[in-house]
Amino acid sequence: MESIKEKLKSIAIQEFQRDLLNWFSEEQRNLPWRQDQDPYKVWVSEIMLQQTKVDTVIPYFNRFIEQFPSIEVLSEAEEEKVLKAWEGLGYYSRARNLHTAVKEVKEKYGGVVPNTPVEIATLRGVGPYTAGAILSIAYGVPEPAVDGNVMRVLSRILSLWDDIAKPKSRKVFEEAVRGLISHENPSYFNQALMELGALICTPTSPSCLLCPVREHCQAFHNGTQTELPVKTKNKKQKSINLAAVILKDKEGRTLIHKRPSTGLLANLWEFPNMEIVQTIRSEKEQLNEEMLTKYGAKIEVGDILTRIEHVFSHLIWNINVYAGFLVDLEEESESLKRVTQKEIEPYPFPVSHQKMLKYLEDIDAE
Ligand code: ADE
Repeated sequence: MESIKEKLKSIAIQEFQRDLLNWFSEEQRNLPWRQDQDPYKVWVSEIMLQQTKVDTVIPYFNRFIEQFPSIEVLSEAEEEKVLKAWEGLGYYSRARNLHTAVKEVKEKYGGVVPNTPVEIATLRGVGPYTAGAILSIAYGVPEPAVDGNVMRVLSRILSLWDDIAKPKSRKVFEEAVRGLISHENPSYFNQALMELGALICTPTSPSCLLCPVREHCQAFHNGTQTELPVKTKNKKQKSINLAAVILKDKEGRTLIHKRPSTGLLANLWEFPNMEIVQTIRSEKEQLNEEMLTKYGAKIEVGDILTRIEHVFSHLIWNINVYAGFLVDLEEESESLKRVTQKEIEPYPFPVSHQKMLKYLEDIDAE
């Protein structure tokens, strides 16, 4: 295969940079994290934008910055408040890692986000993409920031047929960015590649006729823009059947449980639930028994309320949701609480359990 160096020879780099940067100067969207170059805000936005669309991120970003306007404030916040602000965005380890890393910046770097590739890469949750994005956007350092969008754009411009689903391909694209990036304006250059991927060079039907750099694009030239990038499909998600129960005691309080501090949805709260297995015992029998062994809760299961499907990147939860009466609870603890409808508000729940929350007020204790 032709090396990246060879591929880059076919591009008029200065003209490419000029066309791309002019377009970005004119056409960039007015996004809240583009109001200034505060490295903290760039950092928060880039973490939120991983695996989440711009339109979804905007209101979360605004609320987050309002609540935690600086490294100082975020580093002193309780984790539960941070998770609550992230509630609904998913991939909650992003929030926990950001929180940990911000504390580290406060302690080790006097509250100033480091501006070197080596230091910034040591921060929790800051991988090569985030490091490059903060360094280039906030500090003007000519480092690559290669995400899926950027790989798509460059695979077309340079006709790169590496499988972008493979982790090792990122290095190839980073080398390409190092060869192309503007040293006068790395911030605009990287953002322009992202913006082009979002607005013009889209996955299924790119708008080549509107593209500011189509003259420089190998795929446009060869008519291969819809064949690129090469991206193998990831494995199908595994399905798990769960039963959850919204329990009320005779005072009308409901039972909630805090998930363990590691693994899926770590430290988020949920309604008591269990995995259902195929046996001759009914789902209700399994629930009655397991709630006692798992939570020390003696319960009477009532009617089924709804069925919720939640799709994660690697897993699908099918949850049958029941109402139930909490007859007796052995013991409350830091991770098992009875709360009133009002008290439940500050607890962070994953989306699937937030949907169950909506049923809470309709359930009457027996
Ligand atoms: N996607 C990832 N980072 C982005 C940014 N800074 N602006 C717009 N879209 C993005």
